Amino acid sequence: MKATAKAHTNIALIKYWGKRDESLILPMNNSLSLTLDAFYTETTVTFNHDLDEDIFYLDNELIVGDQYTKVSNFLELIRNFADIPNLFAEIRSTNAVPTAAGFASSASGFAALAAAATRALDLQIDEPTLSRLTRQGSGSACRSIYGGFVEWEKGAEDDGSDSYAVHIAPQDHWDVRVAAVVLSSDMKKVSSREGMKRTVETSPFYSGWVDNIPTDLTQIKAAIHARDFEKMGEIAEANCQKMHATTLGANPPFTYWHDTTLTVMQTVQSLRAKGIAAYFTIDAGPNVKVLYQPENEEVVQQTLLNIPGVTNVILSRSGQGITYK
Ligand code: DP6
Repeated sequence: MKATAKAHTNIALIKYWGKRDESLILPMNNSLSLTLDAFYTETTVTFNHDLDEDIFYLDNELIVGDQYTKVSNFLELIRNFADIPNLFAEIRSTNAVPTAAGFASSASGFAALAAAATRALDLQIDEPTLSRLTRQGSGSACRSIYGGFVEWEKGAEDDGSDSYAVHIAPQDHWDVRVAAVVLSSDMKKVSSREGMKRTVETSPFYSGWVDNIPTDLTQIKAAIHARDFEKMGEIAEANCQKMHATTLGANPPFTYWHDTTLTVMQTVQSLRAKGIAAYFTIDAGPNVKVLYQPENEEVVQQTLLNIPGVTNVILSRSGQGITYK
């Protein structure tokens, strides 16, 4: 009745942006990500007949409020799936995802929770089923089941049965690196959940975003298989800018970018002008992630650290999928 699982977070190169079903977390578009080894969550779930509610500790701190409710609601989903009503659990998680790095810990968090809970109950489920369950905690988390390059297929069914992640290329397929550029910023945050909802409902640019996804996906998968770094980077960088463009058309309009975000974007472009292949991508926040190749690690790291307003640069490699202890 007890199990421990570890899951890594992931960075989307083709973004998930918009839901067609909010409660089942079904996306409007396929997305594609790289799992990262530097950022992960380790979770132990212990089901116990003596408990009359779930208990959740994060980094040894008892969690209450919204964060607890999200976790407990997710376990309720697992209880329904396993048909074990009223069997509650103690959940202990530790995050190796520096919150300031702007990497949503929800991706590694829900992936580790789903894996540990299903293993603790000894459920014999395959990876697509685990990914489908994980998706209902947080969409991007369903991609963290696998290492390396991963695609989340949006599916077509109303019940979400065909909406889960699939493997595109394993962790050791290609040594692509990612620098997470941390900015000093106190900008008010629009959560990804709220931001994508507002965009779907109000942005006239949203249909253009959805229409363009199949082309970006076909091209980036070809680039990944061919290990064509420039091609992959160009598509990822452009896809990120298309996603962020939709937020400017929303009502009320919003942007995740900060002045330093733009400076980092321009610095990455000027690195390219000097012949150093580096490309940026940005999620629902001001921080920037920079894709680069191993031979350029030092120059990329130093250049980024020299930008005023950049407080830290965390380097990562391609990461692995779920592991159990
Ligand atoms: C911009 O997975 O955090 O990072 O499904 O509502 O929990 P919910 O959203 P979430 O959204 C991630 C959005 C993104 C792009 C991506 O990771 O694909």
